Amino acid sequence: MKIAPSMLASDFTKMGACAEAVKDADWLHLDIMDGHFVPNISFGPDVVRALRPVSDLVFDVHLMLSHPKFYIQKFVDAGADIITFHVECEDDIAETIAEIKRHGIKAGLSLKPGTPVEALYPYLDELYLVLVMTVEPGFGGQKFMADQMDKLRALRAKRPELVLEVDGGVNRETALVCRDAGADVLVAGTGVFKAQDIPAEIRALRCE
Ligand code: DX5
Ligand code: ZN
Repeated sequence: MKIAPSMLASDFTKMGACAEAVKDADWLHLDIMDGHFVPNISFGPDVVRALRPVSDLVFDVHLMLSHPKFYIQKFVDAGADIITFHVECEDDIAETIAEIKRHGIKAGLSLKPGTPVEALYPYLDELYLVLVMTVEPGFGGQKFMADQMDKLRALRAKRPELVLEVDGGVNRETALVCRDAGADVLVAGTGVFKAQDIPAEIRALRCE
């Protein structure tokens, strides 16, 4: 299981040190919020660029934006390795996936808890990953929605090779639920950054 700590739960006065503290993880999850697609604003490409030299992890950028397409180039330039956006956004989905792949990086598509998994089906052949939200996007520290695991099982059955990532409310207990449903990558914000011993917490989340 790969672990992707979410910088949203880091101490924003020491983001560089926080990124270094999770160097035993696999991906660094970067939550980008526009205050429109979700009722919160986080940080933008300049912060991602500032973190790039301090981390060797895969930069996993999660765009919670109404209009992600315009920002793809900016996050590629900032150092993104994977860009995931939402099927509920207002841009053309196929065009936005193509824009990500045009830059030679990997494309992901995400969906909110209330969106049926079938909404993703027309795009699966073009995707590297699907990010299944297990909380309403916008804030860290919410409760894991176990009823979203049916989406993982449906996607795994349909596309065995697709990378399946889970985001929201992941801790030591819910990580096991995600593993049993077929998850490949777990995003964890609060679960990692509020831990007393961060490397130990990352090891525990791997469910090995
Ligand atoms: C929520 C974000 C998540 C968030 C997860 O909109 O997409 O990545 O940081 O935080 P926790 O792990 O605290 O639920
Ligand atoms: Zn996220």
